[in-house]
Amino acid sequence: MKVLVLGGAGYIGSHVVKAMLGAGHSVTVFDNLSSGQLGNLFPGADFIAGDIRHSSDVEAAFARGFDGCVHLAAYKAVGESMAQPEKYSVNNITGTLNMLNAAGTHGCKNVVFSSSAAVFGSPQYVPIDEKHPTNPESYYGFTKLEIERFLAWYDQIKGIKYAALRYFNAAGYSVDGSITGLERNPQNLLPIVMEVASGWRKELQIFGRDYNTRDGTCVRDYVHVSDLAEAHVNALEYIASRGESLTVNLGSETGVTVTEMVEAARRITGKDIPAAYVGRRSGDASALFATSELARKTIRWNPKHSDVDTLIASTWAVYQKYSAPGVKK
Ligand code: UD1
Repeated sequence: MKVLVLGGAGYIGSHVVKAMLGAGHSVTVFDNLSSGQLGNLFPGADFIAGDIRHSSDVEAAFARGFDGCVHLAAYKAVGESMAQPEKYSVNNITGTLNMLNAAGTHGCKNVVFSSSAAVFGSPQYVPIDEKHPTNPESYYGFTKLEIERFLAWYDQIKGIKYAALRYFNAAGYSVDGSITGLERNPQNLLPIVMEVASGWRKELQIFGRDYNTRDGTCVRDYVHVSDLAEAHVNALEYIASRGESLTVNLGSETGVTVTEMVEAARRITGKDIPAAYVGRRSGDASALFATSELARKTIRWNPKHSDVDTLIASTWAVYQKYSAPGVKK
């Protein structure tokens, strides 16, 4: 298939492009490089420099004719979304509407959307399945849920099929070392742990140790980006071949606490990783993990790299490259 990947130069996007090319699809990346990087572009993929907020850019890209689109061009920092909702309205919501309108105009009938576990809010039960009520607790999560609703309407009215993939905590790097772009100003746990291990940051702050979990720190479901990437390929092929839309959770189905993650990182990196327990971060749910049974059944998803050791070792391998003398971050 001819596939347009919006946000294909980003952290998850670059892994998706690699997987799409590996599955024999032809890929064009559309990215404004605000958080994506030229170094993340694969030689086999075309590149369009464009901004999803500008409908003319999006129209011009779709006019090239695509069978499918993978949409990952969004902001994703939960805290920032509460401080600057405008940014998230314009980029995530207006940007997606630009994409859907252009897909409709130019006959692109299949969209894979990177949604998030943030659509659920604090869980009423775990593991979280797709029937779990949605109640986002951040503006970021709200934008993801609204986009899922737009997708359903454009499916009903325009026949654009979609796969909404609700990622849990994306982490790790391609185990073959082919992707090495670091996220700028990371907000997520594992990159911050790696920055401490690399000596770029003095210590990790662990947000809260009074949760009702086995060691008092939050439980999350970390899933490897290469496993997520494979799900995009399978989902695109599923919706295109069946003409059926799909909403699935993508998690490893294993809950890991923050302390367990840090201890595993100390073991794997051999570094001290100083950490201080501080107060809770607002908006954090105590335990979030998925059941991905539906993804296993429908898109035949079978995560292979989402164990804690692979997540950490593959990330550490990338961070170590930047710790060599003279290598620029
Ligand atoms: C959130 C979203 C998730 C989204 C992701 C994208 C929710 C419920 N989840 O995940 O859907 O895809 O952001 O960025 O909105 N932690 C520390 N110290 C740190 C950083 C994190 O202790 O310096 C802890 C957090 O409190 C949390 C865990 O590590 O318990 C993971 O945090 P993070 O990586 O930020 O992801 P989430 O907030 O779980």
